[in-house]
Amino acid sequence: MSADNVIIFDTTLRDGEQSPGCSMTVAEKLTVADALVELGVDVIEAGFPIASPGDFEAVKAIADKFGTRTTICGLARCRKDDIERAGAALAGAEKRRIHVFLATSAIHRQFKLKMAKEEIVKATIEHVKLARQFTDNVEFSPEDAARTELDFLCEVVENAIAAGATTVNIPDTVGYATPNHYFQVITHLRNHVPNIDKAVISTHCHNDLGLAVANSLAAVEAGARQVECTINGLGERAGNAALEEVVMALKTRGDYYKVGTKINTPKLCGTSRLVSSITGMIVQRNKAIVGQNAFAHEAGIHQHGVLQERSTYEIMRSEDVGYVGSNLVLGKHSGRHAFRTRVQELGFTIDDNTFQRVFEDFIILADKKKDIYDADIVALIDNRVNVSADRWHLVKFQVAAGTGTIPTATVELRDGENEQTVCDAAIGDGPIDAVCKAMERILGVSATLKDYQVRSVSGGKDAQGEVLVELMALGKRYHGKAVSTDIIEASAQAYLKALNKAIAECPTEVAQPGV
Ligand code: KIV
Ligand code: ZN
Repeated sequence: MSADNVIIFDTTLRDGEQSPGCSMTVAEKLTVADALVELGVDVIEAGFPIASPGDFEAVKAIADKFGTRTTICGLARCRKDDIERAGAALAGAEKRRIHVFLATSAIHRQFKLKMAKEEIVKATIEHVKLARQFTDNVEFSPEDAARTELDFLCEVVENAIAAGATTVNIPDTVGYATPNHYFQVITHLRNHVPNIDKAVISTHCHNDLGLAVANSLAAVEAGARQVECTINGLGERAGNAALEEVVMALKTRGDYYKVGTKINTPKLCGTSRLVSSITGMIVQRNKAIVGQNAFAHEAGIHQHGVLQERSTYEIMRSEDVGYVGSNLVLGKHSGRHAFRTRVQELGFTIDDNTFQRVFEDFIILADKKKDIYDADIVALIDNRVNVSADRWHLVKFQVAAGTGTIPTATVELRDGENEQTVCDAAIGDGPIDAVCKAMERILGVSATLKDYQVRSVSGGKDAQGEVLVELMALGKRYHGKAVSTDIIEASAQAYLKALNKAIAECPTEVAQPGV
């Protein structure tokens, strides 16, 4: 890491996953980790191994698979068991880090930990030393640092470094800091902790006041050289600092910050879409950098300016973040070659098999829809790539619904494991509910719908609808996303994807699928 680079520590799989409704399966975490490695993040915080067997399994799988390419980190409280569990999960990674944390603010000391200052310092030293037995890359976080008395914060940080911490993270756990305040906290540490130059100063900001990115940048200005952040700003409550915003601020305003990152920025939008699709957390249209409107100009005067000279109204180049607009591109008569070229121009590299399936979907779509937009192509690709190997597939369905009728659905599913098709019927509150109930009957799983969202992928009456569902099945929440010009079909496919995930995770808990 060069002296003028900032380390990008991604915590989408740990703090991001703590976001309500954002839990991911181990397979999904591996997919996200793969994307983060390709994006070029320096550290992936893969989870909190002691939290559950699933968390342990995910950290271990990520450490084993990616630990030679990127540093994989596991979180641990200042407890022996936590640290040993993190050490065990990370053992397969050549590059590994243990992140130990303990709260330091008066509020946390008094009400949560019921520990005196001396006990906090003692526990910090003891557990940083223990973590060093598993790796020489140890990060320490004084939780709620932004509300901790400065002299005590300095004392803890100094002791953590003396005990062997190589990174000291200064979390604004509750999103209380403001940029100038946070700048001063970091500056104070730099001026008052005698051994501060032995460790990298890191920032970890929550977004409760909408200031997480601004605070992170203020910390960088004050000398922090690691930023902890998440894709799309996912995270506890209002989230963490958004990785894409921090990275593009440092890049766009390199003249001011004079530091860079190793992030492969054209992969930002694709990674954002992947995380949104897996977690079911939709990215708002006007979200900076990765939102659908981030580079769309509506006002005529702006459009005119951009056509004359792009920099009149654009401070970043859309291709630098992998932004896909809503250009009208293809139609029914566009052939395979034109389609492949456009897929490549959009920045996707997909294998021949997947390309063939996406192309077939395109042909079907072009028959139903006059104009195909970039966003349609992206949706078709999203539909086919990064999906876990689903066991059950929708063959066909039929619904009867209308005023004065009982909504009824007949569904046929194919079991990819046994190559058999199974058919069943159900009634429901509406046609979509009836289809979902019929699928539950076939699979022997009962689920409760927790969230359902539908939006159009592009404009026009024949636009594709994108459906996101979140359901509760076999004791956990699962997400599914699908697109189709037929909303009932998109809903059925999204629901089936979520049910497939539940079955894959808990095969023994399923009543008797297919019988
Ligand atoms: O917000 C926080 O304080 C955390 C710590 C575990 C670093 O997430
Ligand atoms: Zn946090």
